Amino acid sequence: MSANLIIRPEMEVDAPVIYHVNEAAFGRAQEAELVDALRGAVTPFLSLAAEVDGQVVGHILFTPVTVKSETGSWQAVALGPMGVLPAFQNQGIGSALVQEGLAACRAAGYGVIFVLGHPQFYPRFGFAPAPPRGLPCEFAVPDDVFMVVELIPGALGERKGVVYYHPAFRGV
Ligand SMILES: CC(C)(COP(=O)(O)OP(=O)(O)OC[C@H]1O[C@@H](n2cnc3c(N)ncnc32)[C@H](O)[C@@H]1OP(=O)(O)O)[C@@H](O)C(=O)NCCC(=O)NCCS
Repeated sequence: MSANLIIRPEMEVDAPVIYHVNEAAFGRAQEAELVDALRGAVTPFLSLAAEVDGQVVGHILFTPVTVKSETGSWQAVALGPMGVLPAFQNQGIGSALVQEGLAACRAAGYGVIFVLGHPQFYPRFGFAPAPPRGLPCEFAVPDDVFMVVELIPGALGERKGVVYYHPAFRGV
């Protein structure tokens, strides 16, 4: 990993470069547009930038989700989207973003984090498939790509329900 890597909260000035990072990472604009749509629209909007030698090369976002069951609903947080510029991938920057992001979530008191993403990548940070725990995603996705991690012991417990993202995610 680069010795000059810094993971820090997003600043106002970062918005255009974060758009560029996500657009380049995903090779399309949908995720970049999603980040812009969520900024200012949701709380929490926990957004971190990865900087190498002063250049923003990676980004991770955590936003709220609602888990609904027959007995009521509760709030949790979802990781995503996240992206690293192609030229900077496979150097540990994505892992550093996930680790720092989860630490920031834990410090803020967010004890349950979901992610919809690569099943080979997120389990190394403690994520495990959510549907077998009675926590399916609102979107029809394979069980292994929708994952959950309990950051604060007891935060998840036996709670179950369907996980709903902000409506802006439906367009992606
Ligand atoms: C996923 C991503 C954020 C990882 O960032 P990174 O800086 O390359 O991550 P790291 O260097 O810390 O770790 C790289 C690991 O991620 C894995 N990875 C990257 N893309 C992957 C993919 N599409 N499917 C599965 N694993 C993937 C690599 O295989 C590597 O695994 P290894 O450590 O076993 O070799 C980055 O590849 C990226 O921006 N991809 C395009 C956008 C994207 O897919 N975002 C995530 C949506 S869930």
